[in-house]
Amino acid sequence: MIEKFADSIRKAYASAVGRHRRDLVTPALILDLDLARENLRTILAGLRGLETGLRPHIKGQKCPELARMQVQAGAIGVCAATVWEAIVMSRAGIEDVLIANEVQGKEKMAALAQAARQGRLTVAVDNAENASELDEALRAANSSLEVVIEVDIGMGRGGVRSAAAAVELARHLSRLPNVSFRGLAGYEGHCTLEPDPQVRLRKVKAAIDGMGAAIQALKEAGFECRIVSAGGTGTYAITGADPRITEVQAGSYLFMDRFHGALIPDFKCALTVLGTVVIKQGNAIVLDAGRKSIGIDFVLPAMTDYPEYPARFFAEEHGIFDVDDRCELKLGDTVELVPGYAPTTINLYEAYHVVEKDRVVAIWPIVPRGPMHWGLVAEDAEVGHERECTEKELVRGHAT
Ligand SMILES: Cc1ncc(COP(=O)(O)O)c(C=O)c1O
Repeated sequence: MIEKFADSIRKAYASAVGRHRRDLVTPALILDLDLARENLRTILAGLRGLETGLRPHIKGQKCPELARMQVQAGAIGVCAATVWEAIVMSRAGIEDVLIANEVQGKEKMAALAQAARQGRLTVAVDNAENASELDEALRAANSSLEVVIEVDIGMGRGGVRSAAAAVELARHLSRLPNVSFRGLAGYEGHCTLEPDPQVRLRKVKAAIDGMGAAIQALKEAGFECRIVSAGGTGTYAITGADPRITEVQAGSYLFMDRFHGALIPDFKCALTVLGTVVIKQGNAIVLDAGRKSIGIDFVLPAMTDYPEYPARFFAEEHGIFDVDDRCELKLGDTVELVPGYAPTTINLYEAYHVVEKDRVVAIWPIVPRGPMHWGLVAEDAEVGHERECTEKELVRGHAT
């Protein structure tokens, strides 16, 4: 069923295949595959030198084709933020999927427990009650699962707050029959926001020392960490260089955006949004790509060919740029924009226009964006064959 859904997206965008990247119906999401492959080679070479695995975070990418591409090139599995992403990735053939966040809620736990019967899924836990509920969901599904303990290493989001709490939770896990302890996860996201590279280095080292303390305390209590997972695009080289870290969860490195590009110069911009000039008045040009078409978190997008003209404002459907008399853009011209933030851009689209040598060579569906996609996967898994949606279901918007 999920393949059928993806197929319907490929069909809807089929007329774009073969067209030049500047000649698409706008707004359009463009993935330059040559540059994405180059970014993948760069990070794998860097991490190989550090003897650390790459477990790409697919929360932004949301695409089975991209996940498979990274695993085939040498990634050890993928990292997901939500249970829906994890299930779609597992069903797409990714053999080792880590949900780096806690899963809470009866339906989500049941979905996870069901999916764990068919593929290797690992989930983060940071408290005993959540772990017990998960164990119960697994028991009910006659299933089992590996877990990592999330350690808060300074970001103040998920994670146990001390090494002692990690040991206490590991002891609790050892009494639960359906879960087994695999190691630790942590995310030093507060360091990514640090613009000064020297300060960032110091902050990352302090954060990873927090994981080191938990590893040591667990070891003394008889718990061996088989994986220690952390890091992101902004910290991959520092975190990956620490011998205590076994894998790095970078995801945005594959595309880049203005936010990550300002932090780390190692990667090329492989993701753009194509917009059309729909208004030219006074010293403003307006594109048909507003905040419903491009991520503006942290920093505003920029035009790839006209970086000298700053964005003034992103309204819902309009991106407004200040220009001067020398600007030769005319009504109807198309321009590519580098997103301010890639993960919140991709989520707005159904598909990537995948480009090689400036031509669209494929349409890759952007799939796991919520529970509906799990519904499609679960139906496929349980029934074992595809079922046509009834007209009533289609009107309601999803199959039950
Ligand atoms: C748990 C976790 N790991 C890693 C990352 C890094 O992702 P990226 O490489 O896209 O910055 C994030 C980003 O939010 C995250 O939440």
